[in-house]
Amino acid sequence: MPAVSASAPGKIILLGEHAVVYGRPALALPLFQVQARVAVQAQPLAPAGQVILSAPDISVQADLSTLPQDDSLAKTIRLAEAELGGRLSACRIKVSSTIPIASGLGSGAAVSVALLRAVSAFAGTPFPDETINRLAFEVEKLHHGTPSGIDNTVITFGKPVYFKKGQPPIAEKPGAAFTFLAAGTGVPSPTAVTVGDVRQGWQRDPEYFNALFDQVGRLVDQARSALESGQAGVLGPLMDQNQAALESMGVSSPELERLVSAARQAGALGAKLSGGGRGGNIIALVEDAQAASISAALEAAGAVQVLSTRIF
Ligand code: PMV
Repeated sequence: MPAVSASAPGKIILLGEHAVVYGRPALALPLFQVQARVAVQAQPLAPAGQVILSAPDISVQADLSTLPQDDSLAKTIRLAEAELGGRLSACRIKVSSTIPIASGLGSGAAVSVALLRAVSAFAGTPFPDETINRLAFEVEKLHHGTPSGIDNTVITFGKPVYFKKGQPPIAEKPGAAFTFLAAGTGVPSPTAVTVGDVRQGWQRDPEYFNALFDQVGRLVDQARSALESGQAGVLGPLMDQNQAALESMGVSSPELERLVSAARQAGALGAKLSGGGRGGNIIALVEDAQAASISAALEAAGAVQVLSTRIF
């Protein structure tokens, strides 16, 4: 029997990270240049119900029944089984991903989405996107405590989205093509830590943080209009202003700021960190003609990886 496989893209947050956890809107884009992939192969000769999970990228090779309850891969499979109303038949599940881990590109959510797609298809009942999104959100809670749900949403639907916590996402249609570069600092930074620090700051000084969140919310709404009307020249400076607000929240870092400056100096229309911050990736909005030279400038400034994506 051939293996059943499924994949899911990475993502970038265009504007609005952190403030989105507090009910403000955010914009996110899928990043198809990197993907998580899951293949499920039936094992008719194995003991009934034995599920062997292998994820070489994170050195996992185990029988599902031996993994702890809070393991995110195990939790994803258990959620899928609960939704299917029964255990999977004996199989081997291989998880692989080209999305760098803990770098703000949605690696955890992409693995969850690909895994839910693959095991539900293997069981003969492919889940609709709404179910995938709901279950992937449950797993996100393991990764970062109080997730907004933006990562699982943009990755499940694979489209640019305008997102507000607890509301149905709105698919965005850009009014022109936009090219973005995502450049990695190489510094891993778990989202749970920065989300936790912002929460502590907000609890200590709610007035200061609420004002920043409100400002970011306004920037997101202006960016949405710029996206819809195809105005890159308007969108870029809004990204720069969002970066300043993220610096004020305390989630930027010297490594991120070095790449943001390098992108701007090389001619990017705007640049900011993307995702949880303190490490991970920056994104830069660029004119197509300058993408190669800005990419080279980012590498010269220490970027470990530069990905380019065009949305339209
Ligand atoms: O997973 P990351 O690092 O891209 O961060 C997601 C965005 C945050 O706003 C920081 C957290 C969230 O749940 O929305």
